[in-house]
Amino acid sequence: MTDLLGNMKRTHTCSQLRDTDIDREVVLMGWVQNRRDHGGVIFIDLRDKEGITQIVFNPVISENVHGKAQEIRNEYVLGIRGKVSARPGDMRNPNMETGAIEILVEELKIFSQAKTPAFQIDERVEASESIRLQYRYLDLRRPQLKKNILDRHRATMAIRNYLDNSGFIDIETPFLTKSTPEGARDYLVPSRVNQGEFYALPQSPQLFKQLLMVAGFDRYYQIVRCFRDEDLRADRQPEFTQIDMELSFVDEHEIMEIAEGLIRNIFKQVLGLDLAPTFPQLTYDEAIDRFGLDRPDLRFGLELCNVSDIVKDTGFKVFANVVKTGGLVKAINAKGCAIFSRKQIDELTDFTAVYKAKGLAWIKIKEDQWQSPIAKFFTDDEKDALAKRLDLEVGDIVFFVADQPKITNEALGQLRNELGRRLELISDDVFEFTWVTEFPLFDYDETEKRYQSLHHPFTAPLESDIDKLSTAPLEIKSRAYDLVLNGIEIGGGSIRIHDSNLQGKVLGCLGIDEAEAREKFGFLLEALASGAPPHGGIAFGLDRLMMILCKEDSIRNVIAFPKTQKATCLLTEAPSKAASAQLQELAIKVSKIEE
Ligand code: AMO
Ligand code: AMP
Repeated sequence: MTDLLGNMKRTHTCSQLRDTDIDREVVLMGWVQNRRDHGGVIFIDLRDKEGITQIVFNPVISENVHGKAQEIRNEYVLGIRGKVSARPGDMRNPNMETGAIEILVEELKIFSQAKTPAFQIDERVEASESIRLQYRYLDLRRPQLKKNILDRHRATMAIRNYLDNSGFIDIETPFLTKSTPEGARDYLVPSRVNQGEFYALPQSPQLFKQLLMVAGFDRYYQIVRCFRDEDLRADRQPEFTQIDMELSFVDEHEIMEIAEGLIRNIFKQVLGLDLAPTFPQLTYDEAIDRFGLDRPDLRFGLELCNVSDIVKDTGFKVFANVVKTGGLVKAINAKGCAIFSRKQIDELTDFTAVYKAKGLAWIKIKEDQWQSPIAKFFTDDEKDALAKRLDLEVGDIVFFVADQPKITNEALGQLRNELGRRLELISDDVFEFTWVTEFPLFDYDETEKRYQSLHHPFTAPLESDIDKLSTAPLEIKSRAYDLVLNGIEIGGGSIRIHDSNLQGKVLGCLGIDEAEAREKFGFLLEALASGAPPHGGIAFGLDRLMMILCKEDSIRNVIAFPKTQKATCLLTEAPSKAASAQLQELAIKVSKIEE
């Protein structure tokens, strides 16, 4: 009850006491959630990391303590000593873990007073997100956010245990380093000692983990911060955490098996959930064909259907021309949705326009006719073929996009997700995984007029496609794989190139000549020429994974101190201007800044 100096010593947390503890003398410590004064008796909900317990100040028990309790306000920090007592029958709260009891306070210590908080700390979350980010330490007092952070801790413990048991070694890699090409902009750090030179913060530990394989560590992992200066979205942060792994002497199947084990373990430890023993796999081509996107949400149907062959000569010239110029006409049958209003269709048309679709054609299947701006162009044969391919029945509405393949797939794939949301086909309680494999090695950047890696330049091509490096680079499939959960890419990796000649050729394809390759990745090429084992790996986005596990819409809700969409920290007000003396030391001159 007291330590050697006579100070109160905590005996229980605020979630522990039950009616089996009645008459026990206890000491609790925590924050004042709220305070109610009922005709002289003061009731306070005392909150700590674990939960809430009701404490009672009654003048009959101690006039002195009751008097002192008058000054208590929300968010004060208290220590109390008292006796556990049964709540009167009608005061019991079955929705509260500790709802059967209360503590009759005999001794009170006010550790800290608190200003009126910027917002009420409860689950109503009425304050704007910017206020809550500014006072993040207050927001983190909310049970939901606290639970997310605790779940994240449980996940990292599960990860460490699983990987340790599987022979992985946790090795740290540098933050002050050289650019790692993962497709985003680098965060640069100026060097004072070497003026005019810059470190790049790692976009991932990719090159270092490959070097660790060359060094013979066999299995590496790290729960590591990565930095990417890219446009932010609900599932992206400028600094985020990867569960990063690399393994030697394995193929993609072994890596996927270990990764599945890891994910299953996390779900078991955090949610108590048993996931299926293996996850389904789709090739990239199949994913794009059926779902339009390389990260398909498998919680619902509404698959895309290619009708290009049926409409290639149709009277609706938009469709026919698209097919003639190498494009695709694809459709989604929204079963039973012919009731969609003109306004709803217009909204969906605007939605697909965001993804560059030039229009969204539609047909409503009515009892006696096809209602549509384009139905008049189709012959009876074309109609029959469409009806059969799309399984058209009375009451359906079918949407078409005709464009170059990239746009058709992206626009209809996004429309599919939007329809899934609107038709409430998507549940937070369902976890649908899929691997996506055999990504193309390259795609073509139209603006820069050059090939670029779909994953990163160290990804191995399929053995059988290596010949195409000089003839048809866009046809090469890679040994890369992503793990997708509920339509979000939670991880990605590949078997790497472990041959320095092949690595040189792939860099060549990317327009990186020998001199540039030496300058940028000389150390890697050198290492690959020094006895490199076959190796591969994967990295999971821990924040994204936790976002889905915790059923949060925003990645910020699973990170203790996140950044805003504009990459700022509202709590510390970073980034901020540097003092001119600092800039001078770094030999940096800041040119005109647009306000
Ligand atoms: P990749 O770039 O696919 O692969 O990243 C791996 C995973 O990290 C997560 N992720 C992000 N999460 C939050 N905010 C971001 N800005 C962000 N960017 C990526 C995603 C993604 O699947 N070195 C390779 C891995 C490898 O080949 O082993 C890599 O970094 O969930
Ligand atoms: P229009 O002939 O331009 O009036 O278009 C008739 C219908 O076809 C409208 O519903 C348009 O939204 C749609 N449409 C036009 N271009 C495309 C396209 N490229 N893909 C799909 N639908 C289109």
